[in-house]
Amino acid sequence: MFDHPDYDGHEKVLMVEDAASGLKAIIAVHSTALGAAAGGCRLWSYESGVSALGDALRLSRGMSYKNAMANLPMGGGKAVILGPVSADRREAVLEAFGRAVESLDGQYITAEDVGVSVADMKVVSRMTGYVSGLDAAIGKSGGDPSPFTARGVRVGIEAAVKARLGRTDLAGLTVAVQGLGHVGTYLCEELFNLGAKLTVADINPDRVEEVCDRFAATSVSVNDILLQPVDVVAPCALGGAISEDVARRLQASVVAGAANNQLLTPGAGVILGDRGILYAPDYVINAGGIIMVAGEISGNNDEADILAQVDAIGPRLADIFVRAKTENVITNLVADSMAKDKIASAGRAKARHTEAA
Ligand code: NAI
Repeated sequence: MFDHPDYDGHEKVLMVEDAASGLKAIIAVHSTALGAAAGGCRLWSYESGVSALGDALRLSRGMSYKNAMANLPMGGGKAVILGPVSADRREAVLEAFGRAVESLDGQYITAEDVGVSVADMKVVSRMTGYVSGLDAAIGKSGGDPSPFTARGVRVGIEAAVKARLGRTDLAGLTVAVQGLGHVGTYLCEELFNLGAKLTVADINPDRVEEVCDRFAATSVSVNDILLQPVDVVAPCALGGAISEDVARRLQASVVAGAANNQLLTPGAGVILGDRGILYAPDYVINAGGIIMVAGEISGNNDEADILAQVDAIGPRLADIFVRAKTENVITNLVADSMAKDKIASAGRAKARHTEAA
């Protein structure tokens, strides 16, 4: 594992095999320098154990960067359960996963991710308290993080269009939204309410119809959405939307959306930078959901405070854009280096504290 290309000095990687339930899982704790490693659990049918390991290593590092950049007192971790898991085994598998999370004694806090629901997390919570993303109790943080993610993406778009186009409002701004799921739909609502003109696409025609009706959007095919002659492209579907080919052909001035890992390759980021297309680093702009989840974990139920933290995504991105311009470095590399600095300095402070104790 130490030679795996995605291994990045991860603090701990737990491989779990539970013969009784059939659970096979990997829990990767990238860093606890800033606090317990928080990140969701993905259930996916991987081609191989090595590709599952790669996913866990990459995603957990991404969570460290995301949490650090959102100034949250949390490190980064991620779990993957190797699928498929048949319906009759699902409960036993999730319970066994809960026991594995519990064995880490709070170093890792899980939540739902692709392939895992709130109901699944309730099963996991029978075995461990180190779970977030459960239903919100009345007056408490929790529940669907998507509206918070969408709000963060909207303030991020505002910061990006100000930096790139000198615009201070969204009236008449043209935005192409790829993916009209939880976040994409809330984002369309936010943008529509501020006067933006929307072009949208989704592989699910029902989602397209609803969004076009509610927000006066125009639909285009999923193959064309990223290449629209608009001000902003907002990828809100799956990761890897911006390939080098798409980066070369994009017509927008700004790429700013919710999807994780939007750049298919590092080269795609370089091409965007060379063409003067401003890219809002994904893990900075899409942190609204994790900010809400952090409130749930810490027991902060002050919604105004959580929204203020989400809104701080705007100035944070503005700072990244200024640094990128001044230092002549692409925005995603500026964000990576800021995140690494924060984690390294927290790690040094933690080591000093441990020595002193
Ligand atoms: P979702 O599963 O609710 O929505 C995704 C939508 O994209 C679906 O409607 C799907 O039909 C559509 N889609 C899939 N492939 C497509 C394609 N090729 N072209 C157009 N549409 C396509 O997911 P959700 O929660 O809205 O998340 C969207 C993205 O944002 C994901 O990448 C997710 O990892 C990321 N994200 C979500 C957060 C949240 O709070 N839900 C937080 C941070 C990141």
